[in-house]
This record gives sequence, structure tokens and C-alpha cells, in this order.
Amino acid sequence: MHALETFFTRPLEQQLADPAWPDAHATLLTALEDGSVRAASRADDGRWSANAWVKQAILLGFRRTDVARIEASPAPFHDKTAYPVRSFEAHDKVRLVPGGTSVRRGAYVAPTVVIMPPAFVNVGAYVAAGTMVDSHALVGSCAQIGARVHLSAGAQIGGVLEPAGATPVVIEDDVFIGALAGVFEGVCVRARAVLAPGVVLTASTVIHDLVNEREWRGEIPPGAVVVPGTRPARGSYAEAHGLALGCAVIVKVRDAKTDAATALESALR
Ligand SMILES: CC(C)(COP(=O)(O)OP(=O)(O)OC[C@H]1O[C@@H](n2cnc3c(N)ncnc32)[C@H](O)[C@@H]1OP(=O)(O)O)[C@@H](O)C(=O)NCCC(=O)NCCS
Repeated sequence: MHALETFFTRPLEQQLADPAWPDAHATLLTALEDGSVRAASRADDGRWSANAWVKQAILLGFRRTDVARIEASPAPFHDKTAYPVRSFEAHDKVRLVPGGTSVRRGAYVAPTVVIMPPAFVNVGAYVAAGTMVDSHALVGSCAQIGARVHLSAGAQIGGVLEPAGATPVVIEDDVFIGALAGVFEGVCVRARAVLAPGVVLTASTVIHDLVNEREWRGEIPPGAVVVPGTRPARGSYAEAHGLALGCAVIVKVRDAKTDAATALESALR
């Protein structure tokens, strides 16, 4: 058992009262940042599960600390003087996270990762080597992003902090997440899968697999190419009004044509 685990699995009241907490919390953030502690782990059979004590320790950080002013070193900006940057004070009670791109403490970002502004990488997230986080992308709290993943412009990878035992969103190695796609509620996208632009996956999203003629929920199988689809809504009212609900459809297994359509521009890296 990790020494930090011993500290952070004690009863909450004990942790809240412990004067050693700031040091232990700082050590936890450093361990998350160097990848030696993770918010979720993969078993040999491929199953992912949350490391509940890590998530609980992150949650305690929100509980034990107050909102305060954070100084940032300003880079020069040049714009119309009519519209200067707004500033906030403590009494505004707005939490303005610094920077066009923010990577929060407690996030692991491997060497060679590219992050285009603005993007936000939240606490507990894990982003492995060779991954591209494009503009306006979100890597939510504790989300686990594999190696050589492409998160296209506007891709939203949801965070899962509570409950502590809930498995975070997992994007495995070599996955391509198209522009404006979103993955939420602990959904797992297996290696080499491709989500077309606009595919939104929650734990409830029905995923119709045209290749294997079956249905999935909460998981995209390896190498699947997924596009947005619709399915007829049930009931006489829906029928009378021609209503359909959104779903996701696996149209094929990734092939050379898909690889060409999702190829990354290596010159930009
Ligand atoms: C998803 C994607 C990779 C598919 O590429 P592909 O493997 O060449 O796909 P194909 O052209 O063989 O399409 C397979 C089937 O899926 C359908 N399809 C493909 N993309 C689709 C989409 N976005 N929505 C609906 N259907 C789609 C095709 O019409 C085709 O159906 P058909 O066989 O009935 O004609 C590609 O469309 C794509 O999204 N590229 C990335 C775009 C992007 O987000 N760029 C990042 C910018 S920052």
C-alpha cells in the first residue's frame, strides 16, 4: 500500500483535523503529476476502476481550502482599450482559473503532449505521451487519456469526482476524438477507436454496432468507428410526431481510409 494511501484512507474527521494534511496533500499532487499515483487503474483483463482513495483525497482538498487570490505573471496583451480585461476580487466570489490554457496541479501530462489554447486539464487527469489536446478541449477531473490520442477542437472529456468510487472517463491509446465530440459519465473508449465529430456518449447512450449487430452502453470496443445517429422514439405520441432520439452508431472497423482521415500533421508537432 502506498504511504499516501495509509494517510488518506483514515476517517475523514481525522484527516480534516490533521496538521500534516497540507504536506500530505502537496505530496499527493506531486505523485499525481509524476504519474506514480493515478485516479484509476487498468486490470490485466482490461477493466478500469477508480482508485477511490485518490479521488476522495482530491475532494478533501476542495473542502479543506478557501478561495483566495492567485497571482499570475502577466504576458503583454494588445487590444482595443475600450474593452480591457475584467478583474475580480474576493468579494465577487467568482473563481477565475488563471491562463488561457490551464493545467491544474495534480494532473499528469507526459512529455511530448501538445496542448493548444485554450484548453483545461483538471486535477487528477492523466494524459499519456504523444497526445494532442486541441483548442477548446476539456480533460475533466480524473479522466484517463492514453498515448497518441487526438482530442480535436472542442472535444469534451468529462470529469468524474463524485462519488469517489465512480470510474472516470477513459480514452485508451491511439483513439481519435473528433471535433465537438463529448465523452461523459465514466464511458470507456477502447484503443484505436474513432469518434466522428459531434458524437456524444454518456453512460445511457445507446451504441448500435452495425459490424457485430449488437448494442453497447458505456463502452466503445477497440478500433470501432462511431458516428452520430438517431433511433425512433417509442410510444404513440412519438410516432405521431415522427420523433427520434440521438444514439451512436458503429459503422465500421478502423481501416487505412480512417487512418488517412484522422492522420495528424506531424510537421505541427
Ligand atoms: C469518422 C471519420 C474518421 C470516418 O472516416 P472514414 O473511415 O474514412 O469513414 P468512411 O468514409 O469510410 O465512412 C463509413 C460510413 O460512415 C459514414 N460516416 C462517416 N462519417 C460520418 C459522420 N460524421 N456522420 C455520419 N455518418 C458518417 C459514411 O457516410 C459511411 O457510410 P456509408 O458506408 O453508408 O456510405 C471521419 O469522417 C472524420 O470524422 N474525420 C475527422 C474529423 C475531425 O474531427 N477532424 C478534427 C478537426 S480539429
